[in-house]
Amino acid sequence: MKNVNVLIDEKKLQARVKEIADEIRKEYNGKTITLICILKGSTFFTADLARYLYDQDVRLEFIRVSSYNEGTVSSGEIKMKLDLKDSLQGKDAIVVEDIIDTGRTLSYLIEYLKLKNPNSLKLCALLTKPSRRVCKVDADYIGFEVPDKFVVGYGLDCNEQYRNLPYIGYLED
Ligand code: IMP
Ligand code: MG
Repeated sequence: MKNVNVLIDEKKLQARVKEIADEIRKEYNGKTITLICILKGSTFFTADLARYLYDQDVRLEFIRVSSYNEGTVSSGEIKMKLDLKDSLQGKDAIVVEDIIDTGRTLSYLIEYLKLKNPNSLKLCALLTKPSRRVCKVDADYIGFEVPDKFVVGYGLDCNEQYRNLPYIGYLED
C-alpha cells in the first residue's frame, strides 16, 4: 500500500458529518427522509449520516453509475449500473455523494431523479473540488472543499483500494 497523507482526520470528518445531519434534521422537521446513496463511494458517508439521524425516519436507496474513463480524464458518458428499487414519487429525497469533481455524474443523476417526481430533491456531497468543475452543480449540503489532489478514504478509492480508511487522505506521487 502506498503512503497516505491525512487531509481530513477522523475527528474533523465525524464532527462535520454530524453537523450536516443536524442541519438536515432541522430542515426536514420530522418528515420521512430518503437518502439515496451513490455506490460505492458514498457508503460510509451515508451510513454515518443515517446514524447521526437516528431519531428521524430515514429510508435508504442505492444507485450505481459509472463514467467511462480514459486514463484520468472522464469521457462524460455516464451509465446506470444499478437503479433505484422503490418509487421516488412524492418522497423527500437527498442524493448523497462522496465528491463532486467535474460535476458530470451529479448533473446527470439530478436530471434523471427529477423525472421520478419526488416531492423534494436535495443534494449532499461530502467533498467538492471546485477547481475541476465542468458542469454546474448546486449542492445543498457540502462537507469540505478539497484541493485538486486525488483523495482516498471514507468510501473514496484508488482502483478499489483505501475505501475503508476512517479519514480522507491523498496519495503521495
Ligand atoms: P464527476 O462526475 O467528475 O463529478 O466525478 C465524480 C466521481 O468521480 C466521484 O463520485 C468519485 O467516484 C470519482 N472521483 C472524483 N475525484 C476523486 C478523487 O479525488 N478520489 C476518488 N474518487 C474521485
Ligand atoms: Mg462515486
